[in-house]
Formats: sequence, structure tokens, C-alpha cells
Amino acid sequence: MKHETIEKNIGLMILLIILVISGGGLAEIVPLFFTEATTKPIQGLRTYTPLELEGRDIFIREGCNVCHSQQIRPFRAETERYGHYSTSNEGVWEHPFLWGSKRTGPDLARVGGRYSNDWHRAHLYNPRDVVPESKMPAYPWLFENKLSGEDTAAKMRVLAKLGVPYTEEEAAKAREQVEGKAEIDAVVSYLQALGKTHSQYTNKR
Ligand code: HEC
Repeated sequence: MKHETIEKNIGLMILLIILVISGGGLAEIVPLFFTEATTKPIQGLRTYTPLELEGRDIFIREGCNVCHSQQIRPFRAETERYGHYSTSNEGVWEHPFLWGSKRTGPDLARVGGRYSNDWHRAHLYNPRDVVPESKMPAYPWLFENKLSGEDTAAKMRVLAKLGVPYTEEEAAKAREQVEGKAEIDAVVSYLQALGKTHSQYTNKR
């Protein structure tokens, strides 16, 4: 009889559905904020250098993350191809996360060290020059645009507030490390850092 009351009262039904879904969601999400496996950085994790950090922002600006995930799943087909699967404690200082799920191109979580800097430069200038069948867009302007470094320190200070262990000294020296460099240098140094900010998992390939 009680069930009939719920079924015949759509307002009550909606309210109860919302309550049940919220409860279930919270039960899944809240513990992740407190478990060490998701909040404690993997041993030996280092922060991005100012140049890598700028590269990461350009990566986001150009939408690279729309075609490339940075999340290797724990399946044989993935680990054989890309290397050790991704773990959450590698990403505790990633703001925002670039895990993604859309893979028009390959996953990039462990692309660092897989190619030379020259390969990346040629590839980003025109992917077809090195991978003839590629449908990745070309990014020639990265070679012309220069970094001013004006905001680098501010970005590091904001990240520090979010728990990334950048020190004030590092932030103060950030500008001189990036000012005048071409955007391509920043992007390539970022790509070379992917999967290399700690040495816990030996990279395949
Ligand atoms: C429209 C989708 C698309 C976008 C946007 C895109 N890529 Fe790609 N990317 C691809 C495809 C497809 C491949 C595979 C063919 C190739 O190697 O060019 C690829 C390959 C790569 C590779 C080689 C990966 C490997 O393991 O072989 C790197 C590195 C890369 N992209 C970096 C970038 C960067 C950096 C950007 C942004 C500046 C970017 N991509 C934007 C589609 C894309």
C-alpha cells in the first residue's frame, strides 16, 4: 500500500529518486577525498617546471586533450601499448585533470621519452611530415609565438594554494625561465615530462 502512494504521487517519487541517487553518489565519491591511495602523491613525484607548466596550458588552449587521453586503463592491450596503467596518486597535483576518455589519437600519459624533441617539433609543425597517414592538425604558430612569462609565477602560486608544493622561491624565479622561449619549447618539454615525473613505473617502449 505504501508503495502505491509513492507510485501515484510523482512529486514524492521525484524527491525519493533524487535522495537515493544522491546517497549512492556520495557513498562513491566522498571516500575518495580521504583515501591515501587517491590523495597521497606517488613516491618521488615532482612538480612540473615553469616551462612544462606553460606547455601544459598551451596543450589545454590548443585542445590537444580533446583528442588525446592521459589515462592508461589496467588492461593488457593498453599496458602492452602504452606502459604501466595510470594510478590516481600520479595525478594528485594535476589541476585540472586531463585524463579524458576520447581517443582520436593515442593516449599520452607515458609519451615522455618515447620520441626525440626533434620528432615532436617536426610532428607538431606538420604531423604528415613524420606520420603520412596522420589526421592530427598542424600547429605551426607554436614556433612563432613567444612566452612572456608574465603569469607563470601567479599560476604557480594558485597551484600552491591547491596543494601543489611550489615554493615562493620557485615562483619568483619562474619568469626568467620561460620569458622569450617559443611556445613549441614549452609544449615539447611538457610532452617529454608525461609519465616521467616519478620513476615508480618503468615505461615500456
Ligand atoms: C583532431 C584530433 C587531434 C588533436 C586536436 C591533436 N592530436 Fe595529436 N594525434 C592525433 C592522431 C590521430 C595521432 C596519431 C597519428 C600521428 O602520430 O600523428 C596523434 C599523435 C600524437 C602524438 C604521438 C603519440 C604516439 O604515441 O605516437 C603526440 C605526441 C601528439 N599527437 C601530441 C599532440 C599535441 C601536443 C596536440 C595539441 C597541440 C595534439 N596532439 C592535438 C590526433 C590529434
